[in-house]
Amino acid sequence: MRRLLVLHGPNLNMLGRREPEVYGSLSLAEINDRLQKWAAEHAVELRVLQSNHEGALIDAVQEAADWADGLVINPGAYTHTSVALRDALASVSYPAIEVHLSNVYAREAFRHTSLLAPVCRGQIAGMGWYGYLLALQALATDPETM
Ligand code: DQA
Repeated sequence: MRRLLVLHGPNLNMLGRREPEVYGSLSLAEINDRLQKWAAEHAVELRVLQSNHEGALIDAVQEAADWADGLVINPGAYTHTSVALRDALASVSYPAIEVHLSNVYAREAFRHTSLLAPVCRGQIAGMGWYGYLLALQALATDPETM
């Protein structure tokens, strides 16, 4: 059974209420339910964590080295600022896929740079909640061949 982690970064606990025209109308709980349903149907053990705190996200990335086969991470605004989170991702050997609900490249210039993307296997942006599912599917298929 493949074991995967989904990490949601800062302010993603506000989904549904937060700029729904940008991030969609689903709450984080509704998105997580959809991901867990998919995981149950595909024999994937899925753990999900949201934190508004950079250090908690770093702890989760490090701890996942002991059990996870792959990571899906929406780092929120830390995408554009966090050298520490990038260093954490660079320190682990499992593959990570960066996901953004919105198309960050169609938005403000400060969102066009990801400090994390260079240490991720890939990136999915602009597909809304479905981006998480696409990333999980990729990791569940065969991360070694990606
Ligand atoms: C986001 C994009 C980031 O620029 C922003 O800070 C977020 C959400 C997204 O999912 O589109 O918090 O990661």
